[in-house]
Formats: sequence, C-alpha cells, structure tokens
Amino acid sequence: MIELKNISYVIRENGEEKHILDNITYKFKDNCLTAITGHNGSGKSTLTKLIMGIYRPTSGQILLDGKDMTNLSIDERARLGLNYAFQQPITFRGITIKELIDIASNEENSVPKACEYLSKVGLCAREYIDREFDKTLSGGEQKRIELALTLAKKGKVTIFDEPEAGIDLWSFDRLNEIFSKGLCYIVVSHQERLLSRADEIVVMDKGHIIKSGKPKEVLKDLTVAKCKRAGGGN
Ligand SMILES: Nc1ncnc2c1ncn2[C@@H]1O[C@H](COP(=O)(O)OP(=O)(O)OP(=O)(O)O)[C@@H](O)[C@H]1O
Ligand SMILES: [Mg+2]
Repeated sequence: MIELKNISYVIRENGEEKHILDNITYKFKDNCLTAITGHNGSGKSTLTKLIMGIYRPTSGQILLDGKDMTNLSIDERARLGLNYAFQQPITFRGITIKELIDIASNEENSVPKACEYLSKVGLCAREYIDREFDKTLSGGEQKRIELALTLAKKGKVTIFDEPEAGIDLWSFDRLNEIFSKGLCYIVVSHQERLLSRADEIVVMDKGHIIKSGKPKEVLKDLTVAKCKRAGGGN
C-alpha cells in the first residue's frame, strides 16, 4: 500500500511561491486499480512523479507498506517494486525493443515470450521486436511499447500517466484489460471507460483531492458537475 501523508509540493516561480500540491493525504490500496482524474494542470502528473521519486515533496511523507520512502531515490523505489510509465514516453536510440523488454523483465526472454508483452498492448509483435525504440515510431506505438515495458517489470505498484493518450479508441477497450487485478495500479486518466473500470477514483482540482470513492458515486457527481457547467439543470 502507498500512503501519502500531508504531501505538499511548492515551487518558486518569478520569486513567488506556487503551490502545485497542497496537503494531500490518501491511501492507494493493494489489489486495487485507482484512477486519478481531474482538469488539466490540477496536479495529477506531479502527484504520481512524487510517488515515484522523480520529484521530492516540499513537506509530508510517502510510505510503502508502512515504511517511509520519502527520501529514497527513483532507483531505490524501483528496487522496492515501483514502476512508472510516463505521459510522454522517453525513447532511446541504439537499443532494440527486444533488448528493452529483457532489461525491463530482468531476464533474457525467448522471442515468443517477448512478443507476448507486445501482443498484450495490441501490437503485431514481430514487426516491432527488432526495431529501435526511437522517434521513428508513431506516438501511439511509443505509448503502447512504454506500456508493454512497464508490464514486463512486474512490480508491486505500477503507475501509468494517461495510458490512453494517443491510442486510438478502436483498440482502447482491449488495452483496458491489461490492468489485471491483483497489483496496486495507479492510473491517471481522463477516459470514462477506464474510470468506470477502476476500483477507486480520485478527483483532483488545483492541487487538492476534492473527491474519492467508488466509480458509480464519483462519476455520477462528475456528470452532474459537467452538466451544471454546461448550463443544464440538476
Ligand atoms: N516545474 C514547474 N514549474 C512551473 N509550474 C509547474 C512545474 N511543474 C508543474 N507545474 C504546474 O503545476 C500544475 C500541475 O501540473 P501537472 O503536470 O501535475 O498537471 P496534470 O494534472 O497532470 O495536467 P494534465 O491533465 O494536463 O496532464 C500545472 O499548472 C503546471 O503548469
Ligand atoms: Mg499530466
């Protein structure tokens, strides 16, 4: 379980303090797919980067199974079983996708085994396995390969920042199935279809968690709020 205790993240911009996250307390449970949603700029990516150790909180604590990991590096957190898939994948030249899958899974995979990871994210594996993970891949292909690599890591806690971004809606439903039950998944998403599959939804606004709970309840409130903003009645 990942526990956030009074997490704040404040930066200085043009000599002034900017509160990106403000006093966030929340428990991400094991065996649970928790979706984080909210407006652009509400702090979702920042929150997940703090959990992974890419940023450090200004104050507060982050615990993994009760142990304080606030001051651990990204590598140390990765060794404890935390994985992270970026909103915008980072590509590498000079290394093939097969080699990256081997690094991610920490073993030499047979070609069919490596292909399984790619098939899970809807790619025709043999077309990609010997390609480099570079900018010649389309945005959606990069995103899918990043997801496959994250799945290959088999961690305790897996964080995906907008896994659906750039992925065509035709194959999105199939992609949804990769979030198998059992691990702690933290997924930032704007997609109602993904949100409705979650066990818990967290809604962020202006650096705060403004709501959390089961999809049925939270999605109903979000729809009402959307209708009100659009000028509709109750
Ligand atoms: N280093 C920084 N300097 C200035 N502002 C920053 C910095 N990092 C984040 N922010 C601001 O913090 C806010 C939260 O950013 P964040 O990327 O977490 O939003 P988000 O909820 O993931 O948005 P989106 O849905 O667009 O991905 C934004 O207003 C962003 O501009
Ligand atoms: Mg973001």
